[in-house]
Amino acid sequence: MRVILAVSVKLSWHDRVVLSAGEGQAVVAGPEARLALRSVAPEIVSALRRLAPPGETEEKLAESILADGNVHSLARWYFHVDQLGRRGLICRALHGDAGPLATLVPLCQAARSSSAPGAPAIRALRTGRNGHSRRPRSGPDISYRLSRFAYLRRTGDEMVLESPRSGSRLVLHDPSALAVVGLLAAGCTVAELCEKIPSLESVAVGSLLALMQDASMVAESEGSPSEDATDPGFESWEFHDLLFHSRSRRGRSDAQFGATYRLADRPPPPALKPLAGNPIVDLYRPDQECLEREDPPFARVQNRRRSLRKFGTDPITAQQFGEFLHRVGRVTETWTAEIPGSSPPSAMEFAGRPYPAGGALYELEFYPVVRACRGFAPGLYEYDPAGHRLHLVSGCNSDVNALLDEAASSAGIEPRTIQVLIILASRFQRIAWKYESIAYALTLKHVGVVYQTMYLAATAMGLAPCAVGCGDSDLFARAAGTDYHVESSVGEFLLGSRE
Ligand SMILES: Cc1cc2nc3c(=O)[nH]c(=O)nc-3n(C[C@H](O)[C@H](O)[C@H](O)COP(=O)(O)O)c2cc1C
Repeated sequence: MRVILAVSVKLSWHDRVVLSAGEGQAVVAGPEARLALRSVAPEIVSALRRLAPPGETEEKLAESILADGNVHSLARWYFHVDQLGRRGLICRALHGDAGPLATLVPLCQAARSSSAPGAPAIRALRTGRNGHSRRPRSGPDISYRLSRFAYLRRTGDEMVLESPRSGSRLVLHDPSALAVVGLLAAGCTVAELCEKIPSLESVAVGSLLALMQDASMVAESEGSPSEDATDPGFESWEFHDLLFHSRSRRGRSDAQFGATYRLADRPPPPALKPLAGNPIVDLYRPDQECLEREDPPFARVQNRRRSLRKFGTDPITAQQFGEFLHRVGRVTETWTAEIPGSSPPSAMEFAGRPYPAGGALYELEFYPVVRACRGFAPGLYEYDPAGHRLHLVSGCNSDVNALLDEAASSAGIEPRTIQVLIILASRFQRIAWKYESIAYALTLKHVGVVYQTMYLAATAMGLAPCAVGCGDSDLFARAAGTDYHVESSVGEFLLGSRE
């Protein structure tokens, strides 16, 4: 068995960093940050050049600076390395005598850690000195534990440790580094880790822990709950919520973001889902001019909007239901537009609706579950927004009844009092075809937009509306016969006559 005895820290540029260096000056430019250095000594410029991947060890960089300059140059070098680290421009790799163990890769400027890459973290470990308070101390009793936000995943051929608390990613090159992560699920001291992973010496374990601590992935546990659990800033966050938040907003993520058209090598999913085969029910179309003339004033509608969970004994009529869907969901216009950057130029279709939507992609589909509506057989329908009609998906089978039961339970009402439940489903591919990192977040925002449009339309019409906060997407996919990953429910809304 090979034993990793000694470790060194290798510094290298982050992969999209460009160094331009000339007489006494250097500019380091990354995708999000840059650092311009003036009056730089030649030994520092040459050290900067040595950061080109695969990079150079801290020791060798320091030796070369001391050989060509003096101790002031070395101090200046550490200062610049600190600046570069704070801007997320350099990676820090731990190398054992048999190869790389792990590399800390900054995701963004927020990756700035409490100490600079190249700061004397590892030296402190080696000499047993206690450096920064977040550093692994040398005491044998100190126990370390993985943050509850840290997670392992495969990317390409590598395993990475990430955390939505962190502005860095730890690439784990060596299986022994993975073993350390596994053991840190429960608190472990350095000695315990070394005992269980004989291929790693304590310096290697300590260095790895130092990297993980810098990235807020590991904390000293010492038998007490970690700050993940007790800090008010963290205790309210569930793992999946913080991960979703951090990855669907700019900031601590290096993923491509926004309208990247990442799936543009295949045709865009259609603006309108083809609906074929099922029995069709035409819907009432209101006269728009009449609505504009006779609707209550907007301020009154807005003021009187309420969630109403008690419905009238006389159910909503087919005319009201048709008018409601027309006001909220019909196709208002269609157009085609060229896909930016497509070669040869290709076009994509759009179908606008009465509510706003990111990129005008309109990925949401409306699935009314009718329990009581005069003029309609009970069952699950899908709305055709272009033809303004309903397609029957199925009668009230056990899955459809379960959808009604669940909505009733969320609203705290009896299922038999529901008149219409409108389920919103997202055609995820339509929005993910164009948008990266934010596709699902956008779809949820669209649900909110539709909810408010529904609330206002129902209020203007004198109907009873109520949004529903949770639903079972698997149950929906089963009831509607959709593929969960292609199209599943993201929102529910109750509609009925007023009590
Ligand atoms: C996104 C969202 C989810 C909601 N989920 C539910 C729910 O599951 N059950 C329910 O009875 N009301 C639900 N509501 C309605 C709220 O309880 C209601 O809007 C809130 O109490 C304010 O009352 P108001 O709408 O009458 O002004 C939801 C509202 C929204 C916007």
